[in-house]
Amino acid sequence: MSNSTNRRPIITHQNPKSPISEAYRTLRTNIQFSSIDEELRVIMVTSAGPGEGKSTTLTNLAVAYAQADKKVLVIDADLRKPTMHHTFIVSNRWGLTNLLTNQLTIREVLQETFIPNLTIISSGPIPPNPSEILASKKMISTLDELKEQFDIILIDTPPAIAVTDSQIIATRVDGVILVVDSDKVKRDAALKAKQNLENVRARILGVVLNNVDRKNKEAYYYYYYGESQ
Ligand SMILES: Nc1ncnc2c1ncn2[C@@H]1O[C@H](COP(=O)(O)OP(=O)(O)OP(=O)(O)O)[C@@H](O)[C@H]1O
Ligand SMILES: [Mg+2]
Repeated sequence: MSNSTNRRPIITHQNPKSPISEAYRTLRTNIQFSSIDEELRVIMVTSAGPGEGKSTTLTNLAVAYAQADKKVLVIDADLRKPTMHHTFIVSNRWGLTNLLTNQLTIREVLQETFIPNLTIISSGPIPPNPSEILASKKMISTLDELKEQFDIILIDTPPAIAVTDSQIIATRVDGVILVVDSDKVKRDAALKAKQNLENVRARILGVVLNNVDRKNKEAYYYYYYGESQ
């Protein structure tokens, strides 16, 4: 697959003045306000099922932070279906998996992107045992070290119901954003995903309701924050 077919437009970058970009900026602000006492530095994005908009939400949120002059790191921890290297047009010949298996250092896997202030660690080669790698102690020390270099770290993950990866990562982060596609996912699946995350004591910051009205482009993105039901 070539880059051109997989390249994904980033609305917050291409059209920062649009109402949709404004919605992502509001999401950024709401995350800041969702924790007053404690700074949220490492945030993961997940959803119950595939294709609900995890990666899209993460990408635009990351750009919104970068536009606010934060030093942003995106980590592609969706070792099942990585897409961040396509979005930010970087190599995926090396990345997170090489780092977690001690083949490469942090410095060697950080890649600058065309967005100022935004750095990425792509997934790297897909291993046969993604969950084990993500559960490793190395993941904890890596995030600790990266926190010293970046203001905010956003982690993309696979769906929360199909595999345990996102539950594992949820225990390593400050907060979780759950993306729910209003068209696709039944309420039960979203509740199951929420339950899975709460079972590992994840801190769910809020729910992004994606694709509320596909026909009305101005309004297709909607979110709410706070206690999710
Ligand atoms: N609000 C939206 N409006 C229109 N298209 C959207 C919206 N959100 C996501 N999409 C599109 O839907 C598709 C799936 O989105 P995305 O890749 O972000 O989902 P995902 O949850 O990361 O999927 P996966 O589970 O495969 O990782 C993409 O082609 C994306 O461009
Ligand atoms: Mg994705």
